[in-house]
Amino acid sequence: MKRLDGKVAVITGGASGIGLGTVLRLVEDGASVVVADVNYEAAQQVVEDITKDGGQAIAVKVDVSVEAEVKDMIEAAVKTYGRLDILHNNAAWGPINDKEIPDMDVEMWDRVMGINLRGPMLGCKYAIPEMIKIGGGTIINTASANGKVGDYERTAYSASKAGLMSLTRSVATQHGKDNIRCNSILPGLILTPATKRKFSKELMELMEEGNLLPSIGGPEDIAALVSFLVSDEGKYITGQEINCDGGVLVRAGAGAIMKYVRDRQN
Ligand SMILES: NC(=O)c1ccc[n+]([C@@H]2O[C@H](COP(=O)([O-])OP(=O)(O)OC[C@H]3O[C@@H](n4cnc5c(N)ncnc54)[C@H](O)[C@@H]3O)[C@@H](O)[C@H]2O)c1
Repeated sequence: MKRLDGKVAVITGGASGIGLGTVLRLVEDGASVVVADVNYEAAQQVVEDITKDGGQAIAVKVDVSVEAEVKDMIEAAVKTYGRLDILHNNAAWGPINDKEIPDMDVEMWDRVMGINLRGPMLGCKYAIPEMIKIGGGTIINTASANGKVGDYERTAYSASKAGLMSLTRSVATQHGKDNIRCNSILPGLILTPATKRKFSKELMELMEEGNLLPSIGGPEDIAALVSFLVSDEGKYITGQEINCDGGVLVRAGAGAIMKYVRDRQN
């Protein structure tokens, strides 16, 4: 008997990076999975690989900022597998022109909020009634360590992730008695196509040094946490913000800079 046998999961942004890692882990745990992504071809490829190996999965094309598409995504899960137990709101956008507030491109701000915050809210809006029908469920929101700190850039992205943590607490509060749990996971730097695309080798090395552990995490580290939280082993955990970040948030920033300078002087 596998941990998630008989469970049905929808994972947004499931065709790449952290979402893909979660898809593969939940299939391994026995769940039937909806790989929901704006990149339909990539989602189809993931499903092809899973079903070839005997796993249960379907691909759904969705832009999570569009209400009708999110509704269809949840309906596709229920129509195909008869129920919905798990929703992982994971898709997000972190544009490179998300800098300081005086230079803010307001359309970009709205689009970030649309994907990163309205998207998960819509996912919850349509998933919760389905979960209530079967006596409960669990929701994971991929937030970010950036949602907890101030930064010199990523202004809209960070605000959206802080909002997502608030959404998590509201869902946990409003639907705990429906046996629906909702938690935020806060990744630090995770090696995915997005981070490989965005960060230079030098920046990556610097960030690796800022990490308390010897190496940078991968999607499988987040997936392992999702697997635990959505299983019965996580049944007393709700409304929480769980860092999975190599410890990067716990060290004092000034201390890290002083060590960096000292190491280079010696
Ligand atoms: N990788 C990191 O270091 C890191 C750190 C903190 C938080 N996160 C968060 O983890 C999540 C996944 O990031 P990743 O690094 O795996 O990214 P990624 O780019 O590798 O994957 C993101 C996936 O989401 C899909 N997507 C984008 N916009 C969408 C939309 N509007 N509707 C549906 N699908 C959409 C993309 O097609 C892609 O398949 C995001 O929420 C991100 O903010 C990542």
